Amino acid sequence: MKGLGEFFDRRRDVEIVIFAGKGGLGKTTSSSSLAYYMATVKNKKTLLFSTDPQASLSDIFERDFFGKGVTEIIPNLYVVEIDADRRVAEYQNEVKQKIKDMYGLDEVPAEIEEYIDSTSAEPAMYESATYDAMAELVAQKNFDIYIFDMPPFGHGVRMVAMADILSKWIEKITEAREKVVEYDEVAATLKGGGQASEDMVMKELLDIRNKIKNFTDLITDRKRTAFFMVLIPESMAIVDTERALKMFNDLGIEMSGLVVNQIYPVELLQNPNLSEFLRNRILMQQQYLKVIKEKFGDYIVAAVPMFTREPKGLEMIKIASEDLIHSKIKF
Ligand SMILES: Nc1ncnc2c1ncn2[C@@H]1O[C@H](COP(=O)(O)OP(=O)(O)OP(=O)(O)O)[C@@H](O)[C@H]1O
Ligand SMILES: [Mg+2]
Repeated sequence: MKGLGEFFDRRRDVEIVIFAGKGGLGKTTSSSSLAYYMATVKNKKTLLFSTDPQASLSDIFERDFFGKGVTEIIPNLYVVEIDADRRVAEYQNEVKQKIKDMYGLDEVPAEIEEYIDSTSAEPAMYESATYDAMAELVAQKNFDIYIFDMPPFGHGVRMVAMADILSKWIEKITEAREKVVEYDEVAATLKGGGQASEDMVMKELLDIRNKIKNFTDLITDRKRTAFFMVLIPESMAIVDTERALKMFNDLGIEMSGLVVNQIYPVELLQNPNLSEFLRNRILMQQQYLKVIKEKFGDYIVAAVPMFTREPKGLEMIKIASEDLIHSKIKF
């Protein structure tokens, strides 16, 4: 593996980069490192994006960006941390307003209101807010490259599977609806008010379908989008990555590469005074690195060491970024 630098030298058309993978293995660290490199070395106007409610970008850059809009940290490097809960609330209010407008009501009926409020607990609402925000930012075309640090849910793309089903379903409904309009145009005009609100429902459905389509187009566009997964040399992470890879394949999402993170320096094994504890951990990792190589082969684009301290703050991000880009570890 030659590092992410070599990958981006080959794939100069990439505008969107997504880091996904199981929780806690290094998505935020990798996306921040790549963003730092793109902004400082490649002079690209870079947007680093997250909807993690843990405010992990604020954490790693040691500055509070959460819910504060797009912020420039250093020249060319912009960060935005979307407050997804707030977006969900805004979306719910929008739905309530639409119901009131559609049916000419002053207030949303209590039962419906309760139902709408209960949807905030749905992970799908949160995901949908994430994808909406992503698609919106990309559509504005204000940046050369967009780097998405996905929150730790369903590898960040479970929604694509749902989107596919939902999209087909909406297609069926709209088709049926169009047929009715075709056959029954006169009767429909005679119906007056009822027709108008039905058309609004139809418009809503089409809007949802278009949003989903925009997002799926974005994430499956092989020319514009690079999709990475991060893993560590441990059994669970390997099993999980395999599962995710299969899911992505089924969804038509091509994984661009794997970043192997948190590798202990194998040279330490030369040290006769090395503790048994460390020796065992290193040997275990070396075993799993072999497995990773067998299973994922050419997908591996970078191998990043375990750092002696937490990769936090610009100085450490710069170091982490060099390891991700040049990938000095060989295995
Ligand atoms: N190579 C590394 N060396 C040392 N510590 C690391 C390394 N990579 C990540 N970490 C640390 O491991 C923790 C998890 O990393 P990170 O936040 O990047 O993972 P994540 O995949 O974004 O997690 P989440 O799924 O919770 O968003 C952090 O505390 C980070 O500082
Ligand atoms: Mg994270």
